[in-house]
Amino acid sequence: MGFESTELFLKIFISSWQTARIYNIEHRLFLESLEKTYTRLRVVFDGEKELVIGILDEELASGEDIFFELSRKVAKTITYFKKLGIERIVFHEDVSKEELTKFISFLIIPIDEIKHTPQEYLSFSGIKNIEVGKIKAADGDFPEEETKEETEFKHYQDSLKKLSNLLDGVLNNNTVDDLNLKFITNDIMDNLKDGYQIFSKLKEVKSYDMTTFTHLLNVSILAIYFAHKLSFSRDDCLDIGVAGLFHDIGKLYIAKKIIQKKGKLDEGEFDKIKSHTVLGAEILLSHIDVLSILPVVVAFEHHLQYNLEGYPKLFFPHKINVVSSIIAICDVYDALIQRRSYKRDYSPETIYEIMIKDKGRRFDPKLLDVFFKIMGVWPQRTIVRLEDGRIAIVKQENEDDIFSPIVEVVDGGPKELVDLKIRKEVKIKQSLNPLTEGKKYLDLI
Ligand SMILES: [Fe+2]
Ligand SMILES: [Fe+2]
Repeated sequence: MGFESTELFLKIFISSWQTARIYNIEHRLFLESLEKTYTRLRVVFDGEKELVIGILDEELASGEDIFFELSRKVAKTITYFKKLGIERIVFHEDVSKEELTKFISFLIIPIDEIKHTPQEYLSFSGIKNIEVGKIKAADGDFPEEETKEETEFKHYQDSLKKLSNLLDGVLNNNTVDDLNLKFITNDIMDNLKDGYQIFSKLKEVKSYDMTTFTHLLNVSILAIYFAHKLSFSRDDCLDIGVAGLFHDIGKLYIAKKIIQKKGKLDEGEFDKIKSHTVLGAEILLSHIDVLSILPVVVAFEHHLQYNLEGYPKLFFPHKINVVSSIIAICDVYDALIQRRSYKRDYSPETIYEIMIKDKGRRFDPKLLDVFFKIMGVWPQRTIVRLEDGRIAIVKQENEDDIFSPIVEVVDGGPKELVDLKIRKEVKIKQSLNPLTEGKKYLDLI
């Protein structure tokens, strides 16, 4: 199934759908166009048993091909599919012209008149060789005999469910950095590694480079928390977390000595590091049946930057997926928080300054503002020195004043909770590094 051939079929298919919309399915123009579509479809099969089209986020995809350019042109069509809840269309090789016509006549029904799910409609209309549904086939959209792969898929889903229950706890308690959660995520991946190939990749990352592995866990958890605060649904939060878990998977294919190099990278080495985006997307593409297309998109886009001046270099206009923008923020935030071989240990106020400087360039300005509203300049549990010399621990952010959290005084005065938003005369002077001058207060956090 060639890229051009599938892309051409999609173009003709969509234009014939538009023709049906403007005229009707009896009209000569539609019949001509349908003839072309059907002929084209037969060519696309090229000996294969089925053609699977994926529709997720802003893109149309098939197999390993993502039709970025076409997707931009038919953005409205993609929105329509999304509204219908169609993320995947499967054309089986025995599909008839009549079935194709019926499918198109379903697609021209005004959305508010549709009373059944698309798959129900197709089945009720007697269409056997076209199926539609969600990308993840676990909802019974594609009832077939259960294969070994499907059993493993269910296993994966069950584990995700367990993980998602745990996440609920995190989300409800509003705690971001939950060590326990990291251990449990780690255990789940341990259990999955034999059953599911892609998770063994994560295990490889762990033994290959522990810093990258920890970073993947951190970004994942941070992104879930951020997405939750942005009011994404619980399921979406989980998908975003999974995308975070795999965003740097391409690093597995870059020499360890470059990844862990302490000094400055030379140009060639930097180019190698940059290739982790494309490499990662390529690896994940072969697992879209399990992971959906989202991790592929995020791996590819997470260094593109808001102004598209990052990498990989693109030679066509492109709109970055919002999830990639979310991951990009969490990614840099975590990289700055962790002590890295090539960076100094930054204080929260320095991290804030560094990131805010890149607002509108590297980062989506609106998202970045919301991010710091949620995180505050000083995240919960930061040890701070107040301007009057007292030492306090940050307990809770004030979303409408990110510089004035609620803190608990632990030294230099009586123990008390102070809401810096109300007590305007009390201000934070600086944070204390928990590994050096703040060390003696660690037990109090
Ligand atoms: Fe990366
Ligand atoms: Fe990263």
